[in-house]
Amino acid sequence: MELKEIVLKENELEIKPDWERIFKRKAPLFLEIGIGNGEFIVWVAKKNPESNFIGVEVSKKYLKKAANRVVNEGLKNVKLMHIEGSKFISKFLERETLSGVYINFPDPWFKKKHKKRRLISQPFVWLISAFCLAYC
Ligand SMILES: C[S@@+](CC[C@H](N)C(=O)[O-])C[C@H]1O[C@@H](n2cnc3c(N)ncnc32)[C@H](O)[C@@H]1O
Repeated sequence: MELKEIVLKENELEIKPDWERIFKRKAPLFLEIGIGNGEFIVWVAKKNPESNFIGVEVSKKYLKKAANRVVNEGLKNVKLMHIEGSKFISKFLERETLSGVYINFPDPWFKKKHKKRRLISQPFVWLISAFCLAYC
């Protein structure tokens, strides 16, 4: 798999695309928000070849590192995008389509003045739950 097949461009993808077409197969779909250097998504995708994984990341530098890792491992069940997590969900997913969401070690932003930057909040959890299947 080449880098351009793994990294999807926000401005080139239609709104709420058919993910089965993009992955070229029907499979449970998992999302990781804030993939960092891609260590986790590569590990979990290798362990679960029967599932499809999308990883999103706001840092271009980390996304590139993660993408190289996916290419080096030759994984066909991973797609990545440089985009903010809740924007990705609202723009590119249909409701009740995810089999699981991973958010590992999100940036803490513990200072009150940085509260707005925090990823996990009650509205965010409600948003995620609407896009997950019942058992998610
Ligand atoms: C502390 S790092 C953890 C990285 C990785 N999950 C791990 O466990 O090694 C948090 C990552 O989440 C990314 N991030 C933070 N908020 C995000 C958001 N709203 N959407 C997408 N990525 C986000 C950051 O750029 C950073 O790479």
